[in-house]
Amino acid sequence: MDLPIYFDYSATTPCHPEVVEAMLPYFTSVYGNASSIHHPYGWIAENAIEEAREEVAELIGAEAKEILFTSGATEAINLAIKGLALSDKRKRNHLITIATEHKAVLDTIEGLVSQGFECTCLPVNAQGEISLDQLKSSFKTNTLMVVAMTANNETGNLHPIKQMADLTKTYGAFFITDAVQAVGKIPLNVSDLGVDMLALSAHKMYGPKGVGALYIRKGFPKIDLAAQITGGGQEMGLRSGTLNVPGIVGLGKASSISLKNHMAECQRLVELRNKLETGLLKIEGSQRNGSSDRLPHVCNVSFNDILGKPLLIRINKKLAVSSGAACSSISDKPSHVLTAMGLDKATAMATLRLSLGKSTTEKEVDFAIDYIGKVVNDLRTAS
Ligand SMILES: Cc1ncc(COP(=O)(O)O)c(C=O)c1O
Repeated sequence: MDLPIYFDYSATTPCHPEVVEAMLPYFTSVYGNASSIHHPYGWIAENAIEEAREEVAELIGAEAKEILFTSGATEAINLAIKGLALSDKRKRNHLITIATEHKAVLDTIEGLVSQGFECTCLPVNAQGEISLDQLKSSFKTNTLMVVAMTANNETGNLHPIKQMADLTKTYGAFFITDAVQAVGKIPLNVSDLGVDMLALSAHKMYGPKGVGALYIRKGFPKIDLAAQITGGGQEMGLRSGTLNVPGIVGLGKASSISLKNHMAECQRLVELRNKLETGLLKIEGSQRNGSSDRLPHVCNVSFNDILGKPLLIRINKKLAVSSGAACSSISDKPSHVLTAMGLDKATAMATLRLSLGKSTTEKEVDFAIDYIGKVVNDLRTAS
């Protein structure tokens, strides 16, 4: 077994070998600019982009013309939220979101609040769930959008997206979902869910880093967005800049591989995750964070009477895990997701998120259970 064993697939995934293979020619031999409309180099690149658009659309049940490529989900989320807020002709200026959203959403909305927008941030219960009644009573006549993640990146919790989107529609508002952690992991169809916009990222689904997409529903009511990156007018004028052809080809390939594999993989991962979780919950003073409705591959467990920093330092010698989101793992602050769920600071810090993926084996899971149990006991004895 190669150490440390990778248990951080929610932070990022390795590129699938077929993804790399599909991308390679676009770095060297097929290097045209997709906007070069006067010669075959450009046409070939453009064809590759349009093929990838079809592949991404198919993964989420959209039409190709509803997919816009970006540099990742952070950019897609920024475009969706700011683009909608700054272009709304009705001048609605109230947004609703959830306290456990990713910082890409929370910080973007905070920026709008500093410009005069108003936000209602829905709390969650101890399992990280929102109340649909509370969402209903949060709407105002000037509510422009609801932004809610499909699945949480720390606990794997799934929100009732269809019910939330349906409710949002009845108030004449738009529904945006950050589906970064869910796309490619569980079946997902934008029409069935009734969402207006959805953000996704290639590197969470065995594609390359630095590329993502925003699904923007066509049809009525029309979604008008103010471009956040202006220039050459690529991507329907909504996202200027030379298209990252190799990256987009990689995202397309990763999408079609996910579509083929995810049902079988989902079943395998849920069994491994349940085994891991059952083993970890046998350790004294441990608790699971999250609801029963969650992604198949994420396990989030806290330990009482133990300091978070030494726990993570010791664990990371043999297991590559995080204490929360990859972006907050390096900070001394407890995860905002876990504190929103009511965990005290010490318990939130003494938390491990293990996320499983395509290379995870039963042997690795057994090793993780034994090793974490040993470290927790050692640290408790030492203190
Ligand atoms: C839920 C969620 N949203 C957004 C992002 C940002 O995605 P990207 O790295 O593509 O910008 C992440 C990545 O960590 C995530 O987990």
